[in-house]
Amino acid sequence: MSAYVIAFANQKGGVGKTTSCINIAAACASMGKRVLLIDSDPQGNTTSGLGINKKSLKSTIYEGLIGIKTAEECIIHTSFQDLDLVASNIHLAGAEFELMDMEHREACLKNFLAPVADAYDLVMIDCPPSLSLLTVNALCAANGVVIPMQCEYYALEGLTQLMMTIRKVKQTYNPGLVILGILITMYNARLNLSVQVLDEIKKYYADKLLPVTIPRSVKLTEAPSHGEPALYYDPYNKGTQAYTEAAKELLGRI
Ligand SMILES: Nc1ncnc2c1ncn2[C@@H]1O[C@H](COP(=O)(O)OP(=O)(O)OP(=O)(O)O)[C@@H](O)[C@H]1O
Ligand SMILES: [Mg+2]
Repeated sequence: MSAYVIAFANQKGGVGKTTSCINIAAACASMGKRVLLIDSDPQGNTTSGLGINKKSLKSTIYEGLIGIKTAEECIIHTSFQDLDLVASNIHLAGAEFELMDMEHREACLKNFLAPVADAYDLVMIDCPPSLSLLTVNALCAANGVVIPMQCEYYALEGLTQLMMTIRKVKQTYNPGLVILGILITMYNARLNLSVQVLDEIKKYYADKLLPVTIPRSVKLTEAPSHGEPALYYDPYNKGTQAYTEAAKELLGRI
């Protein structure tokens, strides 16, 4: 069976894409799934969050996308069980430009992944904060999208645009693509605004909204500086446990 591919996408910056991608991947791996994480952001936060030094890398997603390295050459076995990584660093910033001239430029990630898809149960792609060609590549390679979102005033505006992009990719390149869920991150139920925005999201996207919300948690922000998913850094933290619940919910939707 080929891996189920999940893209974590939202063009808004700092909404919790990377934190969600790493921690849901780690939770799934702890439940016995073989997981491959793809860092598809030039910021390389997933890479450093797993304790990998971004500067010393020879085979990253950049070399993979432009076709000079195979997935097998790019895969790093991390120190966490059942959790592999294709890393990224700032070189990926140039890929956008180089991909422009390639045939089927939207399918580079899908083609890169194809030879290793059978070796995993899940592939999780951390997207950059843009609706660029890198995100389009992730959406073309994916079976499902998870949309991490913060309950802020402008959150819904960005969501409409993202939904339009997802619809376009679905129509043009990837008819099977589904929205697996909207995941509310950094939620604070004591803030009126957060509660109001959540109500608004429920009004329009009730069927997509995951029943689990991720609370604000300092441990979730500390874990990457220790190069670990929160599950290893502080397994009993409420943020960690919320991610485990979110992972279970997503696995149930696949
Ligand atoms: N539940 C949480 N509680 C507290 N802080 C959080 C939580 N989730 C994420 N953060 C922090 O918020 C910041 C943004 O999170 P993250 O990097 O995951 O977002 P992102 O969407 O990947 O950002 P970018 O768009 O830059 O890639 C980080 O400093 C992260 O540690
Ligand atoms: Mg990120």
